Amino acid sequence: PKADIGVTGLAVMGSNLARNFASKGFVTAVHNRSYSKTTALIDEHGGDGQFVPSESAADFVASLATPRKIIIMVKAGGPTDAVIDELSELLEPGDILIDGGNALFEDTIRREKAAREKGIHFVGCGISGGEEGALKGPSIMPGGSKEAYASLGPILEKISAHVDGEPCCTHIGTDGAGHFVKMVHNGIEYADMQLIAEAYDLLRRGAGMEPAEIAEVFAEWNRGDLDSFLIEITAEVLKQVDAETGKPFVDVVVDAAGMKGTGTWTVQTALTLGIPVTGIAESVFARGLSSSTKQRAGAGNLPGPSQPWSVKDRDAFVEDVRLALYASKIVAYAQGFDEIVAGAAQYDWEIDRGAVARIWRGGCIIRARFLNRITEAYADNPELASLLFAPFFTDVVSKGQDSWRRVVAGAAQSGIPTPVFASSLAYYDGLRTERLPAALIQGQRDFFGAHTYQRVDKEGTFHTLWSGDRSEIQEDGHTP
Ligand code: 6PG
Repeated sequence: PKADIGVTGLAVMGSNLARNFASKGFVTAVHNRSYSKTTALIDEHGGDGQFVPSESAADFVASLATPRKIIIMVKAGGPTDAVIDELSELLEPGDILIDGGNALFEDTIRREKAAREKGIHFVGCGISGGEEGALKGPSIMPGGSKEAYASLGPILEKISAHVDGEPCCTHIGTDGAGHFVKMVHNGIEYADMQLIAEAYDLLRRGAGMEPAEIAEVFAEWNRGDLDSFLIEITAEVLKQVDAETGKPFVDVVVDAAGMKGTGTWTVQTALTLGIPVTGIAESVFARGLSSSTKQRAGAGNLPGPSQPWSVKDRDAFVEDVRLALYASKIVAYAQGFDEIVAGAAQYDWEIDRGAVARIWRGGCIIRARFLNRITEAYADNPELASLLFAPFFTDVVSKGQDSWRRVVAGAAQSGIPTPVFASSLAYYDGLRTERLPAALIQGQRDFFGAHTYQRVDKEGTFHTLWSGDRSEIQEDGHTP
């Protein structure tokens, strides 16, 4: 029989995705630049379902039922373009090309447009969940046309993770919307990971706890509000003991965090859109600092505070850190969703935030119990200006804010860096401040550059003659 779906690029993510399709009953065409990977997949996992292997791209395309659906699972950037170029020559109008990698959404917009001119549907599709997710059910964020989703959607929904019987896959919006939302997902992932790392650092250096004890704390947190994949695996990583040295795993790993760029894109895009994603930005910078070998070599030259932290009540401190983590995490999501709203306005996408939260409940790296609450918040009020204004989250933060402040203040006093805890708190305080000092900045701008300002008490645009008699004029030249 002709294949229902094809996967090209059979590295771990690609082969696991192909196995997922096959095991769900889809006849799955598989292809890879070097054929040995294709045969290896069939040799090892041919029993998962019905595979149709092809050595050449032409045979691969010919093995698919029309309209053909092909998922590209190769490196983002040049390699993706190369595969698109090769396949486009072989496809027919109506066929659907899906890019399942972490592509930059602007590339996806460009590729969709080029494909559309040839009558081919191009679906930029965010896929989250790592290797295991790809195999057992990821969270899937497809963009592209509604028309493409109509025939592709049911297949993707079937192989996605399911929560309460609902698939973790929905049509996000046209062209680059899916990759945009996946990008923001990764930004939130960075913030969440950095927050957990800061919490660990506080428990270890602030409260003097050992990794194994901290693992217990995280395992405990995972049974409550913070129940999430990242908290769960954190407990596992902290429990791990290095076989060679007998030391905790976290003590033998070089403390320089890697990154492949999606967090950076989230922040770059947010800056362009003018959206403060401070927690996400600090988490990207924190990875940057960790890898700044030259600067960090001078660590010993920089004095710290005179007083080390003396945590008196360990249990109370652990609870403070938990609440600070929860509140900061809500801020990271609030900021991420703000970026999604701004992106949707800029690129003309209709993105349903509640649906995004819903498909992030399972399969993906940031899956967490509290995404149910986010889904509910947007269901109650689809126009919510900030997630922090949803009654449930306002309540969580208000109950946690004293803890949050104690943690950030204590960390500052004792010299433990908590960039995401601290910046998230500053953002929260910025948001609840009736009058920000921005009026003074407007004055400064008007002083040195005649940049003008608005007044609180009347309409219009004004400028003060700072180097003249300091009287005020209205921008159109009339003195008010
Ligand atoms: C996922 C992950 C996945 C990957 C990212 C982040 O959703 O499954 O986000 O896409 O882990 O590429 O990787 P870096 O930490 O290397 O940037």
